[in-house]
Amino acid sequence: MNPTSTSMSVREAVTERRSIKNFNGEAVSREAVMEILSDSRFAPNHGKREPWRFVVGAGENLKDIQALIREFAVPTWRELSPEALDRQSVKFMTPGAILFVIVPEDARQKERLEDHMAIAAFMQNAQLLAWEQGIGTCIKTPAYLDNPKFREALGAKAGERVIAMLQFGHYDALPKAWDHSPIEDKVTFYSADDSASDTSK
Ligand SMILES: Cc1cc2nc3c(=O)[nH]c(=O)nc-3n(C[C@H](O)[C@H](O)[C@H](O)COP(=O)(O)O)c2cc1C
Repeated sequence: MNPTSTSMSVREAVTERRSIKNFNGEAVSREAVMEILSDSRFAPNHGKREPWRFVVGAGENLKDIQALIREFAVPTWRELSPEALDRQSVKFMTPGAILFVIVPEDARQKERLEDHMAIAAFMQNAQLLAWEQGIGTCIKTPAYLDNPKFREALGAKAGERVIAMLQFGHYDALPKAWDHSPIEDKVTFYSADDSASDTSK
């Protein structure tokens, strides 16, 4: 075991991770982001297509990606008072690093679905690995991800979908716990007797 690693178990990471929506403005370094992404690439992905790429704002270019987000999240920002602008920018000015997650949009529906599932597995890996290091994360899906002007500014190519923004950052307080439904509510044990389908006909 890596001597610097924490004693957090996978189970603890999975069950204790929370989406962090209030960051404290502390930076997350490029090295930390790259380590998390590098480990996350072991996510299952069918056909070993590795259907992901990322446009990252961390370290010195974080301010550039925040300026880009401002154009689309607060299009009227030039007309706002500094106080109003601060209020409306807090969600993208306080994360310590921001990345955009890009997936190829395969023309084949089965492969497209597989790629979307793989990128979700990748993002959960990233969230859990960050959590283990005390770094909070939140997946965000603002409407402007599909805006052609935003896509162009980000460098998304035809045939690619900007599927999510992933925010990393430090935080001072954990969000309140919420009640997750018992899994028994979601599980049916299959019974041949109860099955409506009779494949012999
Ligand atoms: C696909 C996906 C999209 C999400 N989009 C947003 C979003 O746009 N804005 C936001 O505040 N949270 C977003 N979230 C975070 C969820 O709201 C969060 O997971 C939920 O509040 C449960 O909190 P928890 O992760 O701490 O259990 C998204 C999560 C997922 C998985």
